[in-house]
Amino acid sequence: MMVRLNNPFVVYGYKGPEYFCDRVAESNKLCATLRNERNVTLVSPRRMGKTGLIHHVFHLMESEEKDCKCFYIDIFATKSTEQFVQTLGAAVLGKLDSFSQSTFRKIQEFFSAWRPTVTFDQLTGLPNVTLDIKPSEGNESLKRIFDYMKLSGKRCYVAIDEFQQIQYYPQEGLEALLRSYIQFLPNVYFIFSGSRQHMMQEMFLSANRPFFQSAMVMSLGSIEMEEYRIFANRMLGAQRRSIGQEVFRRVYEFAGGITWYVQAILHGIYDHADRTVDETLVDDVVRELVEEQSATFQNYCAWLTDNQLALLKAIARERSVVSPLAQQFIHAHRLPATSSIKTALRALEDKMLISRSATDGYSVSDKLFALWLVQG
Ligand SMILES: Nc1ncnc2c1ncn2[C@@H]1O[C@H](COP(=O)(O)OP(=O)(O)OP(=O)(O)O)[C@@H](O)[C@H]1O
Ligand SMILES: [Mg+2]
Repeated sequence: MMVRLNNPFVVYGYKGPEYFCDRVAESNKLCATLRNERNVTLVSPRRMGKTGLIHHVFHLMESEEKDCKCFYIDIFATKSTEQFVQTLGAAVLGKLDSFSQSTFRKIQEFFSAWRPTVTFDQLTGLPNVTLDIKPSEGNESLKRIFDYMKLSGKRCYVAIDEFQQIQYYPQEGLEALLRSYIQFLPNVYFIFSGSRQHMMQEMFLSANRPFFQSAMVMSLGSIEMEEYRIFANRMLGAQRRSIGQEVFRRVYEFAGGITWYVQAILHGIYDHADRTVDETLVDDVVRELVEEQSATFQNYCAWLTDNQLALLKAIARERSVVSPLAQQFIHAHRLPATSSIKTALRALEDKMLISRSATDGYSVSDKLFALWLVQG
């Protein structure tokens, strides 16, 4: 079921291959790796397009490979092993086979200890199976779900997005347990993805962690500028408009090559259907995007301490800072003592308001927020 969009520049979710720009090489690589029985770990800076790529790849695989099943879960909101298992169960059970009375009987039998219940989504009519899992039974029920997938004999691909979240669960050991189950599933392969790059890398690249060398680590970069412009012009063609190289470069550079910002600006440009696509329009659109979110930004600031806010503004003014603890930086922005800045720096990083890159140092994660901070 493909819907024609009024604005073809999608800024939320995945709306089908015709609205998806490039990622041909990345999609091929991901598909090939999964088909060759390997798991994949996907990392990138925020909003680069990990989640979108997963949906795109699953769309391709389900249309090309008969009888394969793709399951996507986002565990960002889960807080414990039970909630993880609930989420996985809801995604997999009842969707592994076409749903029928006999499937449900099979599920009831297989999961009898967890009293499965089925409800049907009022909008989509799709079945949703929930298990009643007690905190002490998380591990056992997890094993049961994997056994169920194994028994199905179907080829399954499971994407677990925001995977780093499992490190915040109060119970320890899920990481090791998952790893040990996953190893023995000959028909199930995984994509692990997460927006906290450091945590993900640590999980998959440290020799002392369970997931070490268990997956191919793929880091997602920017979509190439000219490729993106061609895509943009294909869409703008519907309005008999186009975007020139110079103007597009301005968009791309403002966005730092990060997909979401490029999409958001193009979305705004498309919205101003009666205007010429020039640099003035790009600047107006960026200003509108900042204004749209000013209430959100105000809120962010409300839950910062004075030191944190002062540091954040200083980083925004500099755009990027290699050594925020250096005396020179601290003096230039009249910040308090190094020890306070150290604490504030950690807090801002923890809240994901700033991020660190190996080459440029620290910068404000949200580019629109950065602009707003400098203005205000
Ligand atoms: N190849 C693409 N073509 C067009 N739009 C895209 C593409 N990839 C991603 N997007 C859009 O960009 C936005 C950000 O992408 P996405 O949510 O996939 O990023 P992410 O890396 O998962 O971000 P986060 O780290 O915050 O979870 C989404 O709204 C999506 O619609
Ligand atoms: Mg994501």
